[in-house]
Amino acid sequence: MRAIDSEVKPAAAGTRFSDTVSYRMEHGVLVVTIDNPPVNAASATMRAGLNCAIVHAGITEEVRAVVIIGSGRSFVGGADIREFGQPMAEPTLPQVVELIEASDKPVVAALNGVALGGGCEIALACHYRIASRAARIGLPEVKLGIIPGAGGTQRLPRLTGTLAAAEMIATGRIIDAEEAQSLGIVDKVTDGDLARQAIAAARRLVVTPPRRTGELAVAVGKGADVDALADKVLAKARGQIAPAEAIRLVRLAAEASLADGLAEERATFLMLRDSEQSKALRHVFFAERAAAKVPGIEHVEPRPVATIGVIGAGLMGSGIAVSALNAGYRVICIEQTAERATAGEKRISALLDRAVASGRLDADGRADRLSRLEVTANMNEVATADLVIEAVFDDLTVKTDLFRELGRLVRPDAILATNTSYLDPDAIAEAVPHPERVLGLHFFSPANIMRLVEVVRCDKTTLEVLATGLAVAKKLGKLPVVSGVCEGFIGNRIFSAYRREAEFLVEDGALPQEIDKAMEDFGMAMGPFAVFDLAGLEIAWARRKRQAATRDPAERYVEIADRLCEAGRFGQKSGKGWYVYPDGKRTVDPEVTSLIEGSRAAKGIQPRGIDAGEIVSRLLAAMAAEGDALLAEGIAQRASDIDLVMINGYGFPAHKGGPMFAAGRS
Ligand code: CAA
Repeated sequence: MRAIDSEVKPAAAGTRFSDTVSYRMEHGVLVVTIDNPPVNAASATMRAGLNCAIVHAGITEEVRAVVIIGSGRSFVGGADIREFGQPMAEPTLPQVVELIEASDKPVVAALNGVALGGGCEIALACHYRIASRAARIGLPEVKLGIIPGAGGTQRLPRLTGTLAAAEMIATGRIIDAEEAQSLGIVDKVTDGDLARQAIAAARRLVVTPPRRTGELAVAVGKGADVDALADKVLAKARGQIAPAEAIRLVRLAAEASLADGLAEERATFLMLRDSEQSKALRHVFFAERAAAKVPGIEHVEPRPVATIGVIGAGLMGSGIAVSALNAGYRVICIEQTAERATAGEKRISALLDRAVASGRLDADGRADRLSRLEVTANMNEVATADLVIEAVFDDLTVKTDLFRELGRLVRPDAILATNTSYLDPDAIAEAVPHPERVLGLHFFSPANIMRLVEVVRCDKTTLEVLATGLAVAKKLGKLPVVSGVCEGFIGNRIFSAYRREAEFLVEDGALPQEIDKAMEDFGMAMGPFAVFDLAGLEIAWARRKRQAATRDPAERYVEIADRLCEAGRFGQKSGKGWYVYPDGKRTVDPEVTSLIEGSRAAKGIQPRGIDAGEIVSRLLAAMAAEGDALLAEGIAQRASDIDLVMINGYGFPAHKGGPMFAAGRS
């Protein structure tokens, strides 16, 4: 084939192959632009357009090479997830991908933004990949309970070797352009004009035979390394099928022909696409996008926030401070005394040090964060904050006194947020002038790690303040879920119902260790009694004592937890609770078993064996019933919000979709 010369005439601008795929000719290169907002997903019309483009290129003499580029911020965000439940229209993505790879004329992928899932697979089938520095590349299908379905498991290892491909596909990790280049996935990274450089590359390539990824040999990583990776990934996947299948298919790429590998991949993809796990994970994907939507907020501009005040630099406050520093905010952290301020500063530095030690942060990043931090015992310093988050002891008098003082110190338009878990934020808001600027930002510990933030909309919170709370939480990299005001908000309300039912189960005949095992086998990160011990039993005990006077005497009440607390068993911190912890190891304690038996006998309860199935279904039903109540009371906006809270704050397995999804409510 001869090199292209520049006298080839461009075709008319604005020519289209389909609704979502347009093209133009530049110097003999067919520049194919995908324009399918919001993320250029590979929908039926996009696949048809791309297919047409390659066929057109094949039969049109003037076309010497092809460039595929996305418009907007995405190259291609993946297969169109909304089409998953429907019959697959032809051409399928594997058909389009094969056509691209088979093209005799060079096809260049110009990765202008995210190239994920099917988008990455289109790029892998092209003969050359050039990426802008902002591009992000990955095969995140496992996060949707599936594996790549258009050649990703077979082509990626041909570029990177088996180990890197297995890691990327089994974890769904998305990488930046530079890492993609170092792994051999992209050929060039540019800061310049991507389209121009892609066209130039395409013109250069016409003189050499296309380099087809599918024809390359797989560099096989050390078997032991892939085994170690598999052990690590599978331990973390806790019952999810897709990561194990991903590793199996990457291994197969090294052993089978491309055609056999692709056939096995496709069969596995279709099986997983129709699985309960994938349905649940797709529900979670759309639930996360829905959570940010609050009626009336669409056109409300959040207030600008540059400086965040954090009151209290304890465990929670320091985590919040680190999160805010990571997101680029200036942070003023207030403690009660100079000594406590020094201790708080050390705590924050230690969290940053840990990030450096684990490779998540470099020394410059650490220094930059510390340059934006002030920890002081001088409360007046908070005056410049645009948003203040209090993370002090969860006591109403302490918090209202603090808010009264903040009301005097900060600007009248500064937003004030309480991190309370159980107190009434409306009562706290009443302590300040302009209570409409108060909201709850309920972080979960450790706040620099945990993704969930319940954004509590108080009685008087304005939409602008709510929008600002959501925007800040999002900038912190969190998943904000809006909750109305009630004791415990969404998460702790459901968790209380879960705790109550777990205790009923104990009284009825199941032992804590049996209940924990059933729930861990179901997929919970930890069983309920292990969690109670980890969190400590004293707070719930104090609450029960507070509620004792008003409790309906006819209501079923299990006293076992009270007996444990009376015996000084406050959980893991005190070395014993529902379990004992010799050398920190959770161990069944016969003393607890006899205490349980004694308590049942005192109530005349004849214990019966309760199997794992009944344990799981009773606990799920209790959570779902409480979720129904939260919806009826208007505390939660939608069932899927409740699912997100339990998945991201309480260890509910994402691949089961959350308690409302599991109960068929969302
Ligand atoms: N299909 C359909 N809709 C999608 C989509 C997809 N692949 N990706 C995103 N969307 C939708 C979202 O639902 C959202 O819609 P609403 O505005 O109606 O809520 C909208 O696009 C914008 O999405 P985000 O809010 O997430 O936008 P963002 O800019 O923060 O992130 C993104 C963009 C990085 C592409 C992110 O949306 C994302 O990670 N998408 C999923 C990527 C993915 O998993 N791809 C693999 C798909 S499976 C596959 O490709 C199988 C295969 O091998 C054939």
